[in-house]
Amino acid sequence: MQKRPQSTRAFTVEHVDGLARAGTLHLPHGPVRTPVFMPVGTQATVKGLTNAQMTDGDGLDLDICLANTYHLGLRPGGDALEALGGIHTFSRWPRNVLTDSGGFQMVSLLQFSQVTEHGVHFQSPVDGSAMLLTPERSMELQNQIGADIIMALDDVVPATATDAARFAEATERTIRWLDRCIRAHRRPQQQLLFGIVQGGLDTSLRQRCLQQIVQRPLPGYAIGGLAGGEEKRQFWRVVQQCTATLPPDRPRYCMGVGYPADLLVCVALGVDMFDCVYPARTARFGSALVDGPAPGVLKVRAADMAADYRPLSADCPQRCCRAYSRAYLHVLAARDASVVAQLLTLHNVAYLTRLMRRARQAIAEGDFPSWVQRWFRQQYPQHDY
Ligand code: GUN
Repeated sequence: MQKRPQSTRAFTVEHVDGLARAGTLHLPHGPVRTPVFMPVGTQATVKGLTNAQMTDGDGLDLDICLANTYHLGLRPGGDALEALGGIHTFSRWPRNVLTDSGGFQMVSLLQFSQVTEHGVHFQSPVDGSAMLLTPERSMELQNQIGADIIMALDDVVPATATDAARFAEATERTIRWLDRCIRAHRRPQQQLLFGIVQGGLDTSLRQRCLQQIVQRPLPGYAIGGLAGGEEKRQFWRVVQQCTATLPPDRPRYCMGVGYPADLLVCVALGVDMFDCVYPARTARFGSALVDGPAPGVLKVRAADMAADYRPLSADCPQRCCRAYSRAYLHVLAARDASVVAQLLTLHNVAYLTRLMRRARQAIAEGDFPSWVQRWFRQQYPQHDY
């Protein structure tokens, strides 16, 4: 059943089908069609791809990609990026960029990081010196980098952690840090600041965080602290709780989610935006995402690829499928792994981009429930539906 669309200045919900939404984010570097998968370009480039491959023509026609404050703040640094005119001028990426705030990357990548009320303390991997990322510093760096969407600094505890007191502390701190970020943000007209809901898998902590965060009138909200190895049922329950409370006229972004089935379940629950390193990382291991049956992944190094002259996917418009067979990719993988990694990255990011566009079309046509059921039946035919 289609419901009346709702709109705000930066986000228009054009179609609603059940809880799923198709909309458009109106950003400085062009419209972003949602639901959308945003590939991770740590330094404003997706590993292995050129800008031309990421934009139009022969390319992926991406509306937005991710970059990281942590990496860009270290190199080339906030001052250098500001002097150069920001990330768009520096990288010559013509479309939108979203920067994550940095803390999550430090805690997940660095051995020696510590979170206190001040911020995230860490050792510079460049020269070993002691550094501190506060909410104010994260905002300063993100203002200098100049992404179209910036994220509040949050205190992230992996969902599988067991220390209940630590989750409660992180939830309250994330709310306090959000207020510090709002105060420190210098370019609210040019850069949309999203708040992040934390609270682990605990229903009452999530509700507390949701209730506090929605009182701050932000242009968008993210669901954090998930996709870290928790059970799927728990993951779905938290996503459902969050989308039920987040304002319907603002974009909702579920962070770190990139498996095709997870994307579709989250879209069905009302999420609009996603990011993950998964499609590019799995490409570097020789895996190509395809429609089912499960596992929905082709391993180009597997022996049964050697005499398979079909493309990876018949309906993929990318070069890796128009100009290369599975058998040729199999041979190349043994001889030139970097070319295969590039071709598969292109293929996998294209797969998730198209998956989201197919979902978007089904939502627009009021056909999302049956489309998504068909996709799951094809992907998991053994499952008892
Ligand atoms: N990326 C994946 N999960 C998270 C999260 O919870 N917070 C932030 N800032 N980034 C993430």
